[in-house]
Amino acid sequence: MWALLVLIGAAAVSAHLQDLSFDGQKVFRVIPQNDEQVELINSIASNTQVDFWKPDSVTLIRPKMQVDFRVEADKTFEVEDLLKESGVEYRVLIDNLQAALDAQFDSKARTAGHSYEKYNNWETIAAWTADIAAQNPGLVSRSVIGQTYEGRPMYLLKMGKSGPNKKAIFMDCGFHAREWITPAFCQWFVKEALETYGKDSVMTTLLNSLDFYVLPVLNIDGYVYTWTNDRMWRKTRSKNAGSLCIGTDPNRNFNAGWCSIGASKKPCDSTYCGSAPESEKETKALADFIREHLSTIKAYLTIHSYSQLLLFPYSYTYKLPSDYEELNSIASAASKQLATLYNTKYTFGPGATTIYPAAGGSDDWAYDQGIKYAFTFELRDTGRYGFMLPESQIKPTCEETLLAVKYIANYVLEHLY
Ligand code: ARG
Ligand code: ZN
Repeated sequence: MWALLVLIGAAAVSAHLQDLSFDGQKVFRVIPQNDEQVELINSIASNTQVDFWKPDSVTLIRPKMQVDFRVEADKTFEVEDLLKESGVEYRVLIDNLQAALDAQFDSKARTAGHSYEKYNNWETIAAWTADIAAQNPGLVSRSVIGQTYEGRPMYLLKMGKSGPNKKAIFMDCGFHAREWITPAFCQWFVKEALETYGKDSVMTTLLNSLDFYVLPVLNIDGYVYTWTNDRMWRKTRSKNAGSLCIGTDPNRNFNAGWCSIGASKKPCDSTYCGSAPESEKETKALADFIREHLSTIKAYLTIHSYSQLLLFPYSYTYKLPSDYEELNSIASAASKQLATLYNTKYTFGPGATTIYPAAGGSDDWAYDQGIKYAFTFELRDTGRYGFMLPESQIKPTCEETLLAVKYIANYVLEHLY
């Protein structure tokens, strides 16, 4: 009986999961030592369909950088031969992507519906936002900040004890569709806040004194697409005039040095900046909400994966933000907090120098709106599983990240006026 149920369950999952198979696809890691080796990667990318995982596009590659990219099954020999011949330092990070993909669903959680220790699809997350608000009327409310390109309501949760003149912290997840650990974190954060309110003194003070806005998934259409069609999708799902390619990179679509560096003007690229700042309904809805609440929002946190980084402005310029010293010391202390649990090592610093310059990001935009405490998290891991972090790592990843977020929130609270 149980075996039969498990079989039916497994069949249902694979049936609705993917059109694409990733069998035989590989992810390579190359560390080019000089411009010549960077050029080699460029030429591989222009001759073969290559999906860059880190950095997000070929134009961002510089010598000495770790470059992770995915190659189609029928091209892996050719690419590996080229790498060998050239003498560039490389290794195979993921030998068979399909196997890694299957391995991500390794949660022991029995439940068929919503679970904090599993990856939930959008339908399940949407229902969860309604339930969590209904079950915690004194602490949580749900609103809709806009509709996605495909017409899905963008749900936002507001969490906190009601009181006069409260300041707020805004946090979003799910900018990039394939970064599945990030919506999982936003859900975890809400759960933990509600469960520990009245028990944990820090969390109790935080919710009594501040509101948290949590947007569990920004790029909902993209997230749905990663469940139904292509697990590796990154961008939104909007149509581009004059092109057959779909989607814009939402984190290149904000009005912060828009499309000046580290972003592409080509609709087929994974870092396409869009036809104009806020051309996407999703980024426009987010920016509108933040503009309307500028007098209350004191911190902006945006959650991505992977690389284990804690970044702050700027990314659109090498110029340091005027609050560099303060932001750096917060990032340092938050990373330290995070490591106390499982010794997970984070690197921190301004985006441009810590990873690469890339304009149009929501962190830089929020900072230039006057939200001083603007941070981008890049969660686990450093490439072993990449975007396909196994479900068994959801709990430890979320627990450690929570420590960093709580640290930042508490810092913000103590420096309000
Ligand atoms: N990997 C993230 C991205 O490329 C990093 C974002 C850092 N911030 C930024 N404004 N580029 O979107
Ligand atoms: Zn991302």
